[in-house]
Parts: sequence; structure tokens; C-alpha cells
Amino acid sequence: MTQRTLITSAIPYINGIKHLGNLVGSQLPADLYARYLRGRGQEVLFLCATDEHGTPAELAAAKAGKPVAEYCAEMHAVQAEIARGFRLSFDHFGRSSSPQNHALTQHFAGKLAEAGLIAEVEERQVYSHADGRFLPDRYIEGTCPNCGYDKARGDQCENCTKQLDPADLIEPRSAISGSTDLEVRATKHLYLRQSALKDRLDGWIDSQTDWPILTTSIAKKWLHDGDGLQDRGITRDLDWGVPVKKGTEDWPGMEGKVFYVWFDAPIEYIACAGEWAAAQGLDDAAWQRWWRTDKGAADVRYVQFMGKDNVPFHTLSFPATIMGSGEPWKLVDYIKSFNYLNYDGGQFSTSQGRGVFMDQALSILPADYWRWWLLSHAPETSDSEFTWEGFQAGVNKDLADVLGNFVSRITKFCRSKFGETVPEGGDWGPLEAALIARLDAGLQAYQGHMDRIEVRKAAAELRALWVAGNEYLQEAAPWTQHKTDPERAAAITRLALNLVRFYGVISAPFIPDAGAAMLAAMGTTDARWPEGAEAALTALPAGHAFSVPDVLFAKITDEQRDEWQARFAGVRT
Ligand code: MF3
Ligand code: ZN
Repeated sequence: MTQRTLITSAIPYINGIKHLGNLVGSQLPADLYARYLRGRGQEVLFLCATDEHGTPAELAAAKAGKPVAEYCAEMHAVQAEIARGFRLSFDHFGRSSSPQNHALTQHFAGKLAEAGLIAEVEERQVYSHADGRFLPDRYIEGTCPNCGYDKARGDQCENCTKQLDPADLIEPRSAISGSTDLEVRATKHLYLRQSALKDRLDGWIDSQTDWPILTTSIAKKWLHDGDGLQDRGITRDLDWGVPVKKGTEDWPGMEGKVFYVWFDAPIEYIACAGEWAAAQGLDDAAWQRWWRTDKGAADVRYVQFMGKDNVPFHTLSFPATIMGSGEPWKLVDYIKSFNYLNYDGGQFSTSQGRGVFMDQALSILPADYWRWWLLSHAPETSDSEFTWEGFQAGVNKDLADVLGNFVSRITKFCRSKFGETVPEGGDWGPLEAALIARLDAGLQAYQGHMDRIEVRKAAAELRALWVAGNEYLQEAAPWTQHKTDPERAAAITRLALNLVRFYGVISAPFIPDAGAAMLAAMGTTDARWPEGAEAALTALPAGHAFSVPDVLFAKITDEQRDEWQARFAGVRT
């Protein structure tokens, strides 16, 4: 039976466009893995969505002068377009504001309440008359009692880093309107009693012996010495969000409130499968076989991708929702998490607009250049850094000098000596035997890294496979052979053209456009994953027509590098 893998990437917030650090920490490696598994013949469902609720979305909409629903619909389209630009191969790019997610979020709340895992708590919170709303802590500003900084936030002072309570602020005001007409009011909220699930979560995390250390260490820290398992407020006094209901019924005392964005966002992973099925005209069974262990999902492997800041929500909060529901939903099998990518001596920053954002990246270079560099420098075991020099060197050496050069050299050579068909005649000898052994070993290693989602190691092995082809060509030297032994030159060339197809197939998870261009140039749609090098290198027979492709990768010049470095040093407005 075909193995089935469900893959989700952390769903990006709706407000604003993500930077390259966000991309390499979730969506991009998720796409790499999805493409690889599809290439290996697995059945994959790869889902992502926009995370649309919460105060930041409301405020961004207000700033744009638009109703929040309209703003979210527009921004969803923008993010979907950029995702297409990066060739992110989601089976569905959903929305956490979908009707499916509303219903499912309310359903989970109802089940958790039935299981006695929801507590109703009376709280006192700051209400702003001018804004007509309760203010979350971080939207209250005032003077820091510790250092005197006059723009301290109600949760923390950015200047001296002291953790604050809104009540600590001197002369508090609304960060939204600036109004000081604030009042502390009583309001009721729902809390998820995560603490009641501590032992189950603990045992479950302990049983995950193969997870990356980054993932389990964060989970354990929160379980044991953090406040991660404190009961968690799952409702807010906001307009925009999933209305609080117990299943399909009203929740007395909770009128006008919505679920907290971090409660409904991970549930969107499930709802998104429903959106996918609906968009395909499929029935509920079609998505439930991915998510319900009683409906066929028991043999699905579920893998999540995310940045390290998201790990507590995925290792503790969301599993608490699923376990607490008492229903047979799938729990995640493997969580791949990432450190941060820094930008040119500092940090990428969305709030400060520092670094390169996804739309900007695509405006200067095609997706493959970014995909290759980002994935081959993925911040797996530690933070990593984007510099323009490093980016230029990676693109020019790996893509242009090694892979691009190989393809261009052999296709042009063949065209000039044998024409645009795979040449016939000649025999393989020891050089070919050595190359095949090298490719077989390298392919095994590459697959092993990809199976374990070791992104940088996989990239390094792929690059080594490209290098092996170049070295072979250099040594076999068909251009020299051709003068004395054209048959031998034909055998070398035939192999090397087949190698172009082989590279096209195995490189496509990293650089899908170049992979497709290589197959197209070889005049084939045969993208079957190689079982072994020998068979793969005879797939295109003598007489098969090919064409010389356009330059696969242009080198980044020093002028371009300097210009981009200067252009992106400033702050995006
Ligand atoms: N929107 C969050 C972020 O960008 C991620 C949400 S992931 C989910 O950090 F689990 F909540 F869906
Ligand atoms: Zn301070």
C-alpha cells in the first residue's frame, strides 16, 4: 500500500508579507518534503492557510481603511500569489476564517466543555471608551515604572525588557487611539484546563524519541519549568474571530466574544483539509481519511513544519485540544522545527521592515535562486545568517558553475558534434562504472537525508551529485575523445544527457523550475524517481530528440549584489 503523508506548515498571519526567515522556517522546507515524497510516489496532502483572526489583523485592516473581512480576503489573495511565485505546492491554501474552521473550532470547544476541561473565569481587564473595546495588554502604552521609557507596553518594556502588567504603567493610554479614558472592567473568559492533561502530554512527548532536539527541548522546558501548562485563556473580547459557541449552541454569558486566535489557528490544519475537499468537490470521507483515525487516518504519517517560536503551541496546546476532545483525531507524528535566519548582521524584523520580504525577493530573482540558497542554509541546528556575499557565492558556485555549467556544456557540445538527438554507439568503461557507483551511493545518502528531513545535509549531498557529474565530464573529456574516437565520445555524451534528466528529477524538490526546464530540454515528461543510476542513465535512448535550454542560472554580478545590499539596508515602509 502507498504510504500517505499529511504535511502542514505553520500558517502565516494575514497582516503583512512574510520575510525570508519566516519562509525558510516553515513553508519552504515543508514544500521541499512534500515534493520529495510525491516524487517518491507517496500520496501527500500538503496544507497551509492564512491565520486571520486577532487584534493585529483588526488593526492592520483599520490602518488600511478597510473592513477586516475585506482586508483579509485581499491579503489572502496576495499571500496565495506570492506562494505560487515561490512554487509552494500546497494542495490547498486555506483560511482560518473559513466556515469549516468556525464550525470545527466551536465543535472542539463543545467537546472540551463536555469533558470538563473548560473553566469559566471572571477577569478584570482594561476597557477603552474611545475605542469601544477591551485592550489586550500589548495595546496599552504608558511610562515604564522601572526605567521611565514613555512607550512601554502593557506586557513588557521594550527599553529595559522588564515584564509588566498594564496596571504597572504610569499614565496608561490606548496604543490604538492614544485615549487615556480607560477603565478596568470585569469580563468573563473561558480557560482550557491544560494542566489536567499534563501527564498525558508528558508521556506523549517522552515517547517521541526521534524528534529533533530543538523540538523536544522546547516542549520539555515548557512542560517542566515554564508556565506552558498553565490553564490558558481561549477567548477574547473582540469582534473579528470565531464566535464563542458550545458546538452549535450558544454559550450563556459569552455573547459577543470570540475564540483566541491561537485556539482556532491550529484547528485550521484540520478545517483546511475540509476546505480542500470542498474545493475538489469531494465528500467528508475524502478529508477524514487524512485526519480521523477511525476513518482511515491511522496509517497516515503527519509531519508539521514550523519556526521554534511556534513549538510550544504545537507540542502542548494543540495536542491538548485534540487529546481533550476525546475524539479520534490524528496527533502529529513528527515536528520539524527551525531556528532563526538572521539578516546581514542583525535580525529580520517584520515590525521594523528589516531584511528581504517574499514579494521583494521574487521581484529581483526567480524562485529557484532563493529556494536553493535558503534551503541549503536552513537554520536547523543553530541560527544561520543571510548575507548578500554568501547568497551571491552560493548561487554562482552551486547553481551556475556546477549544475548550470554541466547542462550547458554537454547540450551545446552534443549539438555541435552530433546534432540535437541523443547520439548512438560506443561503450561504457571503468569511468562510467565508477560514476554509477558514486551516483548510487550519493542517491542513497540523499534519500536518507530527505527521509529524515535533514535539509542542509540533503542539499550538500545533492550538490555533491552535481559535482560528480562535472568531474566525470572533465575526466571523460568527450571533446578530446571526439577527435580520435567519436564512438566513445558518443557514449559519454549519451550518458551525460541522461544525467541531465537524472538531475532534473532529483533536484526538482529544491529547484522545481530548473528541474522542469531540464526535463523539457531533454524532451521528456518521464519524471520517475530513479531506482538506481544505471537504469536511470539509459532512460533516454539513442535517437531521442533534445534541445539546448536557455541559461538555467545567471550569475549574480558584484554590481547587482551591491545594489541589492544597499536597497534592502533601509527600512521597508
Ligand atoms: N500565525 C502563526 C505565526 O505566524 C502560526 C500559527 S500556526 C498554527 O507564528 F498552528 F496556529 F496554525
Ligand atoms: Zn523600562
